[in-house]
Amino acid sequence: MSILLAIESSCDETAAAIISDGKLVVHHLSSQLDHAQYGGVVPELASRLHQQQIVKVVDACMKDADILPEQIQAIAVTQGPGLMGALWVGVSFAKAFAMARNIPLIGVNHLDAHVLSHFLADEKPEFPFLCLTVSGGHTQIIVVKDFHELEVLGDTLDDAAGEAFDKAAKMIGLPYPGGPLIDQLAKTGNSNRFSFPSPCMKDLNYSFSGLKTSLLYFLRDNQKNVGFREENLNDICASFQNAIVSGLLSNLNLAAKQTGINRLALAGGVSANTALRSQFTKMCDNQGYKGFIVPREYCTDNAAMIGIAGWYHWKAGKTSDLSLMPFARMGK
Ligand code: KG4
Ligand code: ZN
Repeated sequence: MSILLAIESSCDETAAAIISDGKLVVHHLSSQLDHAQYGGVVPELASRLHQQQIVKVVDACMKDADILPEQIQAIAVTQGPGLMGALWVGVSFAKAFAMARNIPLIGVNHLDAHVLSHFLADEKPEFPFLCLTVSGGHTQIIVVKDFHELEVLGDTLDDAAGEAFDKAAKMIGLPYPGGPLIDQLAKTGNSNRFSFPSPCMKDLNYSFSGLKTSLLYFLRDNQKNVGFREENLNDICASFQNAIVSGLLSNLNLAAKQTGINRLALAGGVSANTALRSQFTKMCDNQGYKGFIVPREYCTDNAAMIGIAGWYHWKAGKTSDLSLMPFARMGK
């Protein structure tokens, strides 16, 4: 039996997981709720909270899996992208653990891990497949050629899809993080009531700035109608969400046509969105694609995905040495 411990601390979730023989045994997560009062993640606060929680989440995993530290044979950790101070907490913990136990250390790219979360499931996608990765920091259409070869076909030119949800929620007057709240309110709203511009750009790229500005002007123009926002909250959320979801899927569909790849997957925090999941499934059924969606708990940040990505890196001999450094952005 080979056992790997995984750590995630790139943003506001402190998480750990144990993978044994390529299967998830257990994962734990401590969500930092303290950021809500500031309307967004405060980096310094995130680092401090990771420091407080990291040993607890690792202990909880080992206890639940009935595993002792000396049984762990490798440790995987998120190397980036993410908040630098937050990443350092996980990376320092993992380095110390690897050194103390003299076991391999594996640095994992957080975005690759979102994509590879599909390998936590029993039914794994065959290569190559297309993955739409939509999170708080990224919006990408990726060709996944194998575990270590991912090619970006489309990207956002400004905000990420999750960021657009969160910023829209703020404008509407909802607390942070707004994505899940918009999702909830949209369920009883009319998505065709108001019209917002598409985030699709030329090629397979996206831009969310026009959409954001259009919501800002829409809210401002209707300010004079007392109670407008409150009375139409569900329709505003549903219509705004529909612009994002339709745009995301329209480019994904185009990528499938252009590449001829008919296995499609969704990953990242925004892939927890109810409308995105149901419209993705509908599109796959209509177009004859094979669609892959991960359970909601593995869409948003977690260590199970770091563990499974780390597992495949480990088995391919892609380990790191103790000079491993976190990185804040891709390519940096
Ligand atoms: O992947 P993730 O947990 O963290 C990053 O790597 O960024 O994604 C977080 C993002 C946030 O912007 C959050 O608002 C969004 O995912 N999100 C959602 C939903 N759940 C999380 N957006 C829309 N609908 C949801 N149900
Ligand atoms: Zn993420």
